[in-house]
Amino acid sequence: MTVQLVRDDLLPPADPPPRRHLISIGDLTRDDVARLLATAGSFERSLEREMKKLPTLRGRTVVNLFFESSTRTSSSFELAAKRLSADVMTVKSSGSSVDKGESLKDTALTLAAYDPDVIVIRHPQIGAPTLVSRVTGAHVVNAGDGKHQHPTQALLDLYTIERNVGPVGGLHVAIVGDVLHSRVARSNIQALTLMGARVTLVGPPALIPRGIEAMGCEVSTDIAAIGSADVVYVLRMQRERMEAGANYVPSLREYTARWGVTPARIRPGQKVMHPGPMNRGVEIDPVVADSVDALIETQVRAGLVVRMAVLYDLLTHGPVEVESEVAQEVA
Ligand code: CP
Repeated sequence: MTVQLVRDDLLPPADPPPRRHLISIGDLTRDDVARLLATAGSFERSLEREMKKLPTLRGRTVVNLFFESSTRTSSSFELAAKRLSADVMTVKSSGSSVDKGESLKDTALTLAAYDPDVIVIRHPQIGAPTLVSRVTGAHVVNAGDGKHQHPTQALLDLYTIERNVGPVGGLHVAIVGDVLHSRVARSNIQALTLMGARVTLVGPPALIPRGIEAMGCEVSTDIAAIGSADVVYVLRMQRERMEAGANYVPSLREYTARWGVTPARIRPGQKVMHPGPMNRGVEIDPVVADSVDALIETQVRAGLVVRMAVLYDLLTHGPVEVESEVAQEVA
């Protein structure tokens, strides 16, 4: 019997590609961000077609594991995986065996038994995504861990700014409100400064972490500091993360009076963003939230294509010709 050899049979087996995760904006270079945003742009064009589903991740499995409430992040990761033809499973801690005391490690090991390619995790504890990356073989995406990081939120915010205001480099973004408890603020400060924006944090002294200027931003306790910003990024007052009995502000009424983003404090054409969910009438006036300069629903739409890009990029190990994939629609 003759054994047929082809050239690659004579080569040593290739090392498996390194497993990649997205746990922090600190994992990314400027080139990575630019590539992800360009990929998201290609996916946005693909969604203009009548047939929106692409075959790109057919046969891949994405597990969404949510230990905290979510509307935007959870729904957009699920839809992103479905639009790319992956099998997707969403597990929420409430109603799962977490209610019976199962640990994060055992929950992760249990779901890892299905060999998921990607685990997307939201958890109230800082470091939970790193733990999951250590105990499973999946690529891990941080969908928010405590007040640490929410990297895909920052990426979708960069995408929204680029598409609706202009190149991020050189823009001035004011981030207003409860920075202390905000993973969105930490991710956005890193992402915006990485891409060359000027960032000013504005809020009550007790809600601005001491020493945060070391991240490359400016700080002001005067709401007038938003006046020169191209974009005013409003943060939610995160009452669920505030220590019981701690007085960060005298009262919510006082907070709104001094730091609320109201029509009188915004000039026409100044763009307003908010990651959601909003406390209308607390950190943002409903008139501002519903104005033509508010990009809040645009951010949600960007979340879908940016999360498609993140899943795609992790699983294809880098830049791939999205345009050619778009051509192969699922029939
Ligand atoms: N912005 C954000 O993370 O929203 P959800 O909590 O609804 O996912």
